Amino acid sequence: MKLVKLIANLGYGSRKDVAWMFREGRVTDAQGEVLYADDKVPHGEVRLDGEPLDPPPGMVLMMHKPVGYTCSRKDPGRVVFDLLPPRYRMRDPALSTVGRLDRDTSGLLLFTDDGALLHRIISPRAHVTKVYEAELAHGLRGDEGELFASGQMMLEAETEPLEPARLEVLGPRRARLAITEGRYHQVRRMFAAVGNHVEALHRASIGGLVLDGQLAAGAWRMLAADEVAAIFRS
Ligand code: URA
Repeated sequence: MKLVKLIANLGYGSRKDVAWMFREGRVTDAQGEVLYADDKVPHGEVRLDGEPLDPPPGMVLMMHKPVGYTCSRKDPGRVVFDLLPPRYRMRDPALSTVGRLDRDTSGLLLFTDDGALLHRIISPRAHVTKVYEAELAHGLRGDEGELFASGQMMLEAETEPLEPARLEVLGPRRARLAITEGRYHQVRRMFAAVGNHVEALHRASIGGLVLDGQLAAGAWRMLAADEVAAIFRS
């Protein structure tokens, strides 16, 4: 691929903008030699203003989503893309969230531009376990674990029962819930169905990938290949 297209596809600017970057001599190789728009040079060799380029397509990143942000590109309020470099919104192929978390839910959120990977993670057939920690308005009744695990639970207005889910009681009003689906507001609706109310919700893990404590709310980082593989290990 010609460099001008490669760099424009990474979201650094339109082809016209990027063509100017070449004219201004801002695009070089690792040794500082000026490169030209038509050159075909490996991605890792290219520098823009002396800096390596963003990762090529196939990138996966994890964010510690804070409360108060929606998983949308164009919601009028605060959106998770506001927490990433602005050019990430302009990439082609587009960077998307892997599923969604509600505005009021915090925790592990993945992004990728790899459509096949995204599908493999969110497909109900993949049975990737998502673990949530919930703070509840009322004490647990005691029968929730059995009902959630039954594979018979029906949510309002739905026609298919929920896949079995695992409840772990952490305290009188705190619980950890592991689910393998991603239905709309699933965790909140499950607790609502047993007469409770989720006051705070946090996603701790997706498959074998755990949100590490070093990532503060609002922070993000790229994932290494072994971390992406961990998503499919529970
Ligand atoms: N279940 C919910 O209710 N909300 C989320 O954000 C994720 C799962």
